[in-house]
Amino acid sequence: MPLVAPSLLASDFLHLEEECKMVNESDADWFHLDVMDGRFVPNISFGIPVIEHIRKIAKKTCDVHLMIEEPEKLTEAFRKAGADQLIVHIETCRNLHSNIQQIKSLGMKAGVAINPHTPVEMLYDILEDIHHVCVMSVNPGFGGQTFIPHTLKKIRNLKRAIHERGLHVLIEVDGGVTLQNAKSIVYAGADVLVAGNTVFKSPNPKTTISELKFIQV
Ligand code: DX5
Ligand code: ZN
Repeated sequence: MPLVAPSLLASDFLHLEEECKMVNESDADWFHLDVMDGRFVPNISFGIPVIEHIRKIAKKTCDVHLMIEEPEKLTEAFRKAGADQLIVHIETCRNLHSNIQQIKSLGMKAGVAINPHTPVEMLYDILEDIHHVCVMSVNPGFGGQTFIPHTLKKIRNLKRAIHERGLHVLIEVDGGVTLQNAKSIVYAGADVLVAGNTVFKSPNPKTTISELKFIQV
């Protein structure tokens, strides 16, 4: 059974409190919070003050996905805002190992995201240091894009590498996850499904979350 992490990026920002309460009451496991800086990705989303407010009502793990340059400068600020888990992109971190140590030293779980063009092999030497890998199945920056099929191969290869090392690193898949493709994504080895539009634009988000959670593989 996968963990389900609704991405608030697709939620109704005018009714953020109700959206958070819906996630609290649902079968979802994590809040997935996407932070974009308009530099690393061609879009700007929300940042620290909004996460502080979400944290006040969120009763589940806050998984913060940083799509920003120089994330090390804001690690502590995101911890103070309430992040439980911080994801940084391998493409922005010249000193990835030290970024991971910094996140962990502040008491958060560390995740590393990889873009569609980045080979998963680039993560093999830090797998033992991290809690989860966020495999991007779309180019980061926008919700509502189509899942890139090649991601399934990356998930399978990463799963094998994690097993071979006897590790328990979770594989999170982010972008274009739908009720139609979720089964094949979990079958390939995903442990966590991020879903934005599929959840928040559905007629009954709570039911959709349950459908993702109890997907039969
Ligand atoms: C994209 C973000 C995703 C996004 C997913 O850059 O990292 O988390 O919100 O949205 P959907 O599920 O709609 O593709
Ligand atoms: Zn994300």
